[in-house]
Order: sequence, then structure tokens, then C-alpha cells
Amino acid sequence: MAASAAQQVSALPGDDKPPVVAMAFVTEAAAQARVSAELFSMTLGKTNVREGSIDNALAFSEWPRDLDILVVDLANSSDPVADAAALKTALPGSCSVIGIGRINDVALYRDLIAVGFSDYLALPLAEGMMGRAAERALEQRERGGATMHGAPANKDARPRTLSVLGARGGVGATTAAITIAAMLGARLKEEVLLIDFDLHYGSLMLSLDLEAIDALREALDQPDRIDALFIQQVAQKKNEHLFAIGAEEAPSGGFQARPHAAGDFLRQVHRRFRWVVADVPRGDPVLQRQIIEASTDILLIADLSLPGVRDAMRIQQVIHDVAPSAQLHLATSGVLDSRRSSVKVADVERTLKRKVDCQIPSDIPAALAAVNFGKPLPEAAPNSTIVKALRPLVAGLDGLGEGGAAKKASGLIGRFTQGIKSKKK
Ligand SMILES: Nc1ncnc2c1ncn2[C@@H]1O[C@H](COP(=O)(O)OP(=O)(O)OP(=O)(O)O)[C@@H](O)[C@H]1O
Ligand SMILES: [Mg+2]
Repeated sequence: MAASAAQQVSALPGDDKPPVVAMAFVTEAAAQARVSAELFSMTLGKTNVREGSIDNALAFSEWPRDLDILVVDLANSSDPVADAAALKTALPGSCSVIGIGRINDVALYRDLIAVGFSDYLALPLAEGMMGRAAERALEQRERGGATMHGAPANKDARPRTLSVLGARGGVGATTAAITIAAMLGARLKEEVLLIDFDLHYGSLMLSLDLEAIDALREALDQPDRIDALFIQQVAQKKNEHLFAIGAEEAPSGGFQARPHAAGDFLRQVHRRFRWVVADVPRGDPVLQRQIIEASTDILLIADLSLPGVRDAMRIQQVIHDVAPSAQLHLATSGVLDSRRSSVKVADVERTLKRKVDCQIPSDIPAALAAVNFGKPLPEAAPNSTIVKALRPLVAGLDGLGEGGAAKKASGLIGRFTQGIKSKKK
């Protein structure tokens, strides 16, 4: 019972801006009627309302480039937040998305806002709710999309360093650091800097087909000599939002980081880049400790082996000691297929006394494609399960903990709960 496939095009009254374009994928007939009526009256025209859910929206590929509003039913999705994040990346950047669904849960609402949705309304829709939500979404976009990615509100937020640590060698730490930095940059529409702190054996620059430079060692030796111009010159651009710095010191050349070198260096770097993702070496405990100390966020990747769990526990202890206020995320490695591992995720959780936040799946073709093309994995293999698995983690990094988004959320939650109250009447 799909309605007319003709896209809805109409102008707001008294407005000489381009016409508003809206679409909807809705499962239930009653909700379809309501969405149709309210977007109709808001835009003074027909709306392209289709029968379907987020599954149909994910399979849809012919998005009008000037699409302003998409209403999508999260019905039956087993992982609505991951699906929402996937959908958001497929849509034109200017499109505001309003989710609807049967689940009436503020935690879900917050997660959806964190992945870039403008709003979420619980079914059944009270009269006027959809129209108001659509108007708010358009207003929000006019003001610069304060709660969406690329939010200007994020620009003055505090500097963030995410350190990525492999509990053992070869667990996929460099791959994860690059993937997360690329996803974060694209999501925030903000320049993110990757730093490979393994001055001798780092593989990050090689993986991205960028040139290693000597200046990193010099900068760590004499951080007081670094200025914004220096960073500008040595940070190599991979794409619009991704930059990287890494060295290739001779294996014979020793390096002893002076006290606080990494922290001082990162402070200087943050004058140019708000977000830094650090690939942390395991072979240099002094530098490792310094980087952990200077981090706001840490991703620890453990493989499903006995030594992997033991070392994850030891690094977790270092993190607790030197960076107790850093946000710690725990992931399991995807380099080896977890089905063939003797240690299970539950064993890791029991030993480390905390939940695993992300199980990075094994995706050898995607990892190979990234290496072969010298590109971040999200570009070389955008549909990889690795990208999908890391999405909630990336969304959580810049999500509601940050400045404007957090403030907006409380206001919207207020309206959301108002909506629930009025619905119960
Ligand atoms: N999820 C994954 N699935 C399959 N292969 C992967 C995955 N992640 C990484 N790899 C591959 O595993 C190898 C090691 O990855 P990577 O260099 O990222 O690990 P590392 O922990 O940084 O290693 P090192 O200790 O040498 O720094 C690479 O060939 C990479 O392409
Ligand atoms: Mg590495």
C-alpha cells in the first residue's frame, strides 16, 4: 500500500527558501495516516509515505539529494541503534531523521540522538506530535544542527585524546585506531589527527600510504618548540577529515621519552586538532604510561587467549592507576575468529570484572582491502562488519557527553516525556 512514489515537494508558507522534501517508511496504517496528514499540512503538499520499516529504508538507495526530513519506523529491528547509525551514513548530510517505534525508552532516545537522529517518537502518535517534531528538526538544522554530527556546538568542547591499546601484539589495534578516527572525522565533519607513537616499528603511516617523518621524535624530545605551524606542516592529510603523524626511526636508534613528553606534545597538538586518536606502542612502557595519563578516552583491545586476557588485566590496572578519570572502552580482537578461541568473551568479562563494549568481528577481506588500497577501512570496505561493530562505540565517543548535544538532549527529553504524558491522557 505504498503511497505515491512521487517525492513530496512543498514550500513553507511565506518562505522563499527551496521547497521542503520529506519521505517516510512506516509499518502501521494508523501511524502512516498520521505522518501523512501532519507532514502534509506542514509542507502544504503530498508526502511520500511508504509502507515499511528501517529495513526497507536501509535497502533503499535512491534518496533525493535534497531530502530534508525522513521519518523511519524502527519496528522489528534487533539493533535499532546500529541500524540507525547505518541509515544516517547513507542519507544526504542535510537530512533530518525522526525515528518512531513501539519502544518507549529514554535510553533508546538518547542513543538515537547520539548517532545523529533529530528525534524519536513513541507510538501511537498523539495528534500534532509528528508535525511539531518535523518543525523542530528543520529549526534545529537552520540553527546549524546543534545535536547532529558536525555540530558547531562541538567546536568549543574540550580536547579529546582516544588512546588505542592492544593487550598483545597483532590484535588489530592499528586497524581499529584508523577505522575509528576515519569514522569519527566523517561523523563529526571535523578534522581528526591520528598519531602513531611507535616511533620505530609503527605501521600506521604505511597502512595509510603516507610518509613517515623524523619530526615526531624531535617534537617529543622538545615539545616546547612545537607550535601550531609545526603541527600544520607535519600532519599529513589522508582525506578531508583525517590527518596522521608517524615516524620510522632506525631500529638501532634508542629513544627515551623525557618526563611528560607525550602529555606536553598532545597539549600542543590540541591547539590545532580537538580530536586525537593515538596508536599506543606496547614496547615502550614509559611512553605508553605517559600517553595513557594524557588520554580522555582509552580503547583496550584484548584477544581471546590466555596471555591476551592476562595482559589486558595488567594494562587495565595501569589505566586505573594513571588515568582513573579516562573513559575506558573494552573490545575483543577480530584478528582471530572468536569461534576458534579457547577463551570466551564471558571469561574476559569475568576476569576484567566489566562488560566488553565491542566485539570486533573477523573480516579478513575488508582488512586486506584496507591494506591493499592504503585507505581507512570505512573507505575501502564501507560495508564491513568491523565498521558496523565499531559504530556504537564511535557514536558514544562524541555523543551526549559533549557540550551542546547534552544540553539539547535534556530539553528534548523534556518534550519527549511531555509527549508521553499527553499520550497517556
Ligand atoms: N578485525 C579484523 N579481521 C581480520 N583481520 C584483521 C582485523 N583487524 C586487523 N586485521 C589484520 O591483522 C593484522 C594485524 O593488524 P594491526 O596491524 O591492526 O594489529 P596491531 O595490534 O596494531 O599490531 P602491532 O602489535 O604489530 O602493532 C593486519 O594484517 C590487519 O589487516
Ligand atoms: Mg599496530
